[in-house]
Amino acid sequence: MIGILDSGVGGLSVLREIRALQPNASLHYLGDSAHCPYGTKSPAEICERVTQIADYLLGKGSSLLVIACNSATIHAVGPLRAIYPIPIVGMEPGVKPAAEKTKSGVVGVLATEASIAGEKFHQLVDTHADGVRVITRPCPRFVELVEAGNLEGDGVNEAIDEAVAPMLESGADVLVLGCTHYPFLKKAIRNRVPEEVVLIDTGPAVARRVVEVLPPTSDFSEENAEIHIETTGAVSVLEGLFPKLLPGLEARLTKSGLAD
Ligand code: DGL
Repeated sequence: MIGILDSGVGGLSVLREIRALQPNASLHYLGDSAHCPYGTKSPAEICERVTQIADYLLGKGSSLLVIACNSATIHAVGPLRAIYPIPIVGMEPGVKPAAEKTKSGVVGVLATEASIAGEKFHQLVDTHADGVRVITRPCPRFVELVEAGNLEGDGVNEAIDEAVAPMLESGADVLVLGCTHYPFLKKAIRNRVPEEVVLIDTGPAVARRVVEVLPPTSDFSEENAEIHIETTGAVSVLEGLFPKLLPGLEARLTKSGLAD
């Protein structure tokens, strides 16, 4: 079983990619909507909460853990790897592919405050984006919109324009969707930026990595292929959101047994 976690429903954008590559894997997702957003929390708070969730998912039988949250990866993947003997796949804003793709030499990174403030993010830029101008912007409004199931319309367009217009004016030709909530706004973002601007979502690359590190003994018979989504928030909200975010996918949706 693959355990997947995020501060809320954002990581479902990664679950969708894992499911597409390995339709018979059993996926157990925990969305910590009661504590969303992580993006404005301190590194210590994020690390403590993510460790509780990891403990919980391992206790439920996960043999691989996916931190489907850039903010949580940046602040907790090191400590988690030091504690747990299972493969842990994390993710970080796609600065490297962005630096490879830019022609103008300017890239925009949309990510949470927690992600871009960390030392790890600066290392990422120093290592992979030498000579490239990297403009960052936290977009807490994007997270709120996705958690509320608002994926299009005037409010969404306004939030996108506010975040993206200054980047485009500065010459950015690549935009990194550096938070797992943002891919759910990809269609709306696409409609607000010129055609030639490249949007980078690292979800598919994370899913490929997950498939690579799956334990060789994994059983992918169809009867194991359940998707179980737990939320620490209200199940009624998740029930309303899930079909909007992942139309056509079936999953068991429950209130999490993890204490707040
Ligand atoms: N989805 C998360 C990320 O990838 C965090 C969103 C939030 O809780 O602020 O960073």
